[in-house]
Amino acid sequence: MAKGAETNLDHLSDNELFALLNPDLLPRHIAIIMDGNGRWAELRGLPRIAGHAEGIKSVREIITLCRDLDIGALTIYAFSQENWKRPALEINALMMLLEQYLQNEMEELIRKGARFRAIGRVDSLPSTALNWVRRVERETAHLDKLMLNVALSYGGRSEIVDAVRSLAEDVQDGRVQPEMIDEAFLEGYLSTRGLPDPDLLIRTSGETRISNFLLWQLAYTEMYFTPTLWPDFRRREGLLALLEYQKRERRFGQVPDTVSPQSGL
Ligand code: IPE
Ligand code: IPE
Ligand code: MG
Repeated sequence: MAKGAETNLDHLSDNELFALLNPDLLPRHIAIIMDGNGRWAELRGLPRIAGHAEGIKSVREIITLCRDLDIGALTIYAFSQENWKRPALEINALMMLLEQYLQNEMEELIRKGARFRAIGRVDSLPSTALNWVRRVERETAHLDKLMLNVALSYGGRSEIVDAVRSLAEDVQDGRVQPEMIDEAFLEGYLSTRGLPDPDLLIRTSGETRISNFLLWQLAYTEMYFTPTLWPDFRRREGLLALLEYQKRERRFGQVPDTVSPQSGL
């Protein structure tokens, strides 16, 4: 973005930023690596969990923004398989927050028409958290305005391993012939089956890595990295990310002249 353009946006209200968006060029699916909660808290002399709690407010605002823009799918990285290596105190606090979030938010998700689904090896979650996950999945199963995937105990490589394993079982049982397997077929075994691949990946907190998130699905996703810490990433930062996304030219391997913006694979 040119420096002048950035300064111009600074003076615009959220509503003005919203009005600048081209409704024909919105992502159909946004993925977010919500990072920087710990640093947000440390900067204020607070325990790390205070950052996680504050980050929930950002989740709420971004879900609302997706609904306001009629964006059909949002996948958020809440807890990675690697996060099990954190101190037990932090893990327990995160699980408690997850339970509280699901308990407090279920009615709001229903009001918003959001279908909640957990992706990842959720069987590793403590049973009280898992019960809430299953409950909110059940209670929102009929909704279709927004597909909200929450990645919990998630790892991109494990997801592919799990897909390959169940595909191998189907081949072994004679339900699938090896020649039937192509990219679309394998995709049907992933936890995001049926959804378009993310058009936009946002990672907050200045880190510029994927950290084992959606390795298959991000093949042609536009990446947006921002130094903003997740608890500070609210509606306005979401709008700025979308405006930046709309300036990208998505080529999918073609030469510039032949590709229409945002055209899928
Ligand atoms: C992201 O924030 C949330 C989770 C990984 C659960 P972090 O907890 O990673 O925050 P930083 O990166 O330490 O600031
Ligand atoms: C990625 O953040 C996982 C989530 C946001 C849930 P991390 O903070 O765990 O990632 P690394 O360790 O910096 O790569
Ligand atoms: Mg982090």
